[in-house]
Amino acid sequence: MGGFEIAQMMERLRAGDVRALARAVSVVEDGGVVAGELIAACRETAGRALRVGVTGPPGAGKSTLVDQMARWLRSEGQSVGVVAVDPSSPYTGGALLGDRIRMQGFAGDDGVFIRSMASRGAMGGVARAAAEVCTVMEAAGRQTILIETVGVGQDEVEVIGLADVTVLVLVPGMGDEVQSLKAGVMEVADIFVVNKSDRGGAELVEQEIVAMQGLVSERSGWVPPVVRTVATTGEGVQELMEAVRRCAAEKVGRRVRVGDAGGTGGLRLDHLGVAVKSIAAARGFYEALGLVVSHEETVEFEKVKTAMLPLGESRIELLEATEEDSTIGKYLAKRGEGLHHVAVHVDGIDAMFARLTAQGVRLASDAVRVGVGGHRYFFVHPASTGGVLLEIVGDGVPEGGD
Ligand code: CO
Repeated sequence: MGGFEIAQMMERLRAGDVRALARAVSVVEDGGVVAGELIAACRETAGRALRVGVTGPPGAGKSTLVDQMARWLRSEGQSVGVVAVDPSSPYTGGALLGDRIRMQGFAGDDGVFIRSMASRGAMGGVARAAAEVCTVMEAAGRQTILIETVGVGQDEVEVIGLADVTVLVLVPGMGDEVQSLKAGVMEVADIFVVNKSDRGGAELVEQEIVAMQGLVSERSGWVPPVVRTVATTGEGVQELMEAVRRCAAEKVGRRVRVGDAGGTGGLRLDHLGVAVKSIAAARGFYEALGLVVSHEETVEFEKVKTAMLPLGESRIELLEATEEDSTIGKYLAKRGEGLHHVAVHVDGIDAMFARLTAQGVRLASDAVRVGVGGHRYFFVHPASTGGVLLEIVGDGVPEGGD
């Protein structure tokens, strides 16, 4: 798949083509250079879905509950993605038969897209693979993504870390399991569900959860509610989804308040720039770590060769001088290999440039420049940042510009 095919794929994804979505997810799961390029393209266009993690011990009825949640979201007219991380599958894609069986419940409805993933053997770790599948689903316009895992291992806890809201599903008669879960999963739960609550003992589990909450350190602003459900009949699902929405609103509210303090949105770590003598020599380590080079490029006017390795929501950028008489060449001669700059993404890069200039911040660029890939950037001098060369990165050239 080359650049042209990726562009075509993106067009089909944006149009909501479900077969393109299935193909894109497979490409991403297979990994490699093409996957990296596809992910990068998805990241550029993807909106942000509400990601709801659903976890709990085996036999808690998570799949049935997730299906009911998907059904509820469909009744609200939402498009839904489901990522089911299944530790019993020996390899990625191994649960496809399971997907087909589950999809039958949504026969003829493209509004629910289900993908199962193995939790072992995924390249670069299952959490990363799941994150990438989420990004593809977001690029395809899925509004809510339900991430289902069995909350037992470290992998699964990491997968749950991808979620905005985490639902922990328990059932009556598992007092011991509640005890064993408290180390990892209890802390990340935003909402507790007592499923199969028509059975005896629901009261007892609920009491144990409430007792345990006293032990879990208080988190500001949100006390995890306990919701009783019977997933097989759909009972309590309405209440659960209302709790999910309240929690999401609470968390987004907190994020917005933090973001507003800066007055400029979209602040996030974009990449770390690492100066190396040779990309060919240095990339081996990062690839052994499980990262994949998504993009290589020589920037003539900077006399630098770069390789990008996506890392979660951000990237590592390896920088190699093409001439000794260049910024990176001089840096290497003076300081040797090492962390060269930290790059922060911002939504309004022109406003940021103006604001920092107005505040007398020492910049290392005389204007907002355009990189070869079309993104825009400028540098802030280490004298103003506590000794770190800071790159501010914005999105592509505004329409009519350059
Ligand atoms: Co950079």
